[in-house]
Amino acid sequence: MTDQPIDITQFNPVTEGKATILFPKNNEVFYNPVQEFNRDMSIAAIRTWSEIYLQEKKDRIAKKTANITDPVEKQHRVKKMEDRLNPHDFNILEALAATGLRSIRYAKEIPNLRQVVANDLLQDAVDAIRRNIQYNELDEKLVKPNRDDAMRVMYKTVGTDDRYDVVDLDPYGSAAPFVDGAVQAVAEGGLLCVTCTDLAVLAGSMHPETCYGKYAGMPLKGMFPHEMAVRLVLQMLQTSAGRYKRYIVPMVSLSIDFYLRVFVRVYTSPDQVKKAASKIGVMYECSGCHAFAPQPFGKIDLKPNGQEHHTVNSGPPVNSRCDHCANTHHIGGPTWLGSLHNQDFLQKMFSHVEANQDKYGTSERMKGMLSLAKEELDQPGYWTLQRLCGTLHCNTVPMKDLFSAFLNGGYQVSLSHCGPTTIKTNAPSEVVWDIMRCWIQANPVTMKNLGENSPARRLLEKEPKFKADFTRHPDAVGESHKFVRYQINPTAHWGPKARAGKKRKSDTEQ
Ligand SMILES: C[S@@+](CC[C@H](N)C(=O)[O-])C[C@H]1O[C@@H](n2cnc3c(N)ncnc32)[C@H](O)[C@@H]1O
Ligand SMILES: [Zn+2]
Repeated sequence: MTDQPIDITQFNPVTEGKATILFPKNNEVFYNPVQEFNRDMSIAAIRTWSEIYLQEKKDRIAKKTANITDPVEKQHRVKKMEDRLNPHDFNILEALAATGLRSIRYAKEIPNLRQVVANDLLQDAVDAIRRNIQYNELDEKLVKPNRDDAMRVMYKTVGTDDRYDVVDLDPYGSAAPFVDGAVQAVAEGGLLCVTCTDLAVLAGSMHPETCYGKYAGMPLKGMFPHEMAVRLVLQMLQTSAGRYKRYIVPMVSLSIDFYLRVFVRVYTSPDQVKKAASKIGVMYECSGCHAFAPQPFGKIDLKPNGQEHHTVNSGPPVNSRCDHCANTHHIGGPTWLGSLHNQDFLQKMFSHVEANQDKYGTSERMKGMLSLAKEELDQPGYWTLQRLCGTLHCNTVPMKDLFSAFLNGGYQVSLSHCGPTTIKTNAPSEVVWDIMRCWIQANPVTMKNLGENSPARRLLEKEPKFKADFTRHPDAVGESHKFVRYQINPTAHWGPKARAGKKRKSDTEQ
């Protein structure tokens, strides 16, 4: 396609951030505003990461050359290292770029970006990318359109120095088919950004075997399906990376509306790969009361000389029948049991968004989501108010009262970013159920209505050992309450747009 004038009458221009994208009027596939939040978060995450990444390189050069006293020699060594490490700018591969909206926003809104490769398999998409580059008055050096299979683009980097500092996978549905290429195509310390929109599969609402087939992990749909979905994807990323002596460090891992988005840094270290065994495992969830218990596969002990010793873990952490309600357990995973977020990164990203609110159309929600993630306790799984009260058929406990009971008992508690009535706590499950028993002592349920073998009857037949104090605790409300924390669907048809069909003649969906 040459730089001929664009016949603007054929298109609907849509502006998001600093980009304006032309959508053909005759196309049944429209711009999907839902993904603006995804793109805003991605820009903030990449900006935050790039500041850390480039500074790390500068620090490395400064450290390596600190002891060189001869100024000429020093300048020479610094230059040599700069040529190799490139501490001033970076590049991005958007492997599945559609109209190029995301790449064009990256080019216009992220400083120190040397180049973003906007790749798509389809000629229609690449034509659209070119048109949009031209319309946005960018050049094809900064946003490089490329037509190829995403996997081929990523595999071409293997064994070369041409890996990408950032690889962004934003497919329709699952990113699983692209992960093996992506974990190899990211530079050392680079950022891998992954979207999956097949949450129905990942959260286990149907066909858990399909989830296993795609992600090599079983979902759990009972108590914390959305966090489990995020963890299954992180497990897949680590397992794929481990094959190449690489490991992931999650920076931010989020379940958002109908999709999930994770940002992980990727490094190479056989020693760190060994730790994956202790960060991955299975999750037991009671099929009756939904109490849950993680079981990492590996264990790390410290030897007297301070060295780490890796062993096979022992278990399981539950009895063959649930201690609380005598039901059997479901087994989810293998899944990621390590941290979902990096606190330092979250803080930097939050500060960046606060200082640049005018630059993001969804800044209020970004602040809310990031502050929730910052407050989230770093441990797998959460309880939900609906499940706790639903299992016992009792009146709903006000969240502040419930949080107060944990805090007054000396336990930690937080929300999860996954939902407004979620409860993350370090309290053991017997304490959680004791708190509910105490609530029911003050707000009785009708025992005769409970089935003979129901989890509710079995739970309520026991007396609480832990005496819950529901007196309002001052920390029962986190900082995040100041922000827009949980999105209420803003339109009637909120969700993913249809995938463009095979017969599609023009641009792809955003
Ligand atoms: C959801 S859209 C991408 C949206 C885009 N990332 C954004 O934020 O604007 C997915 C794109 O992936 C492309 N695609 C699907 N399979 C591909 C493959 N194997 N290689 C390259 N592109 C592919 C499709 O043509 C489609 O344009
Ligand atoms: Zn149970």
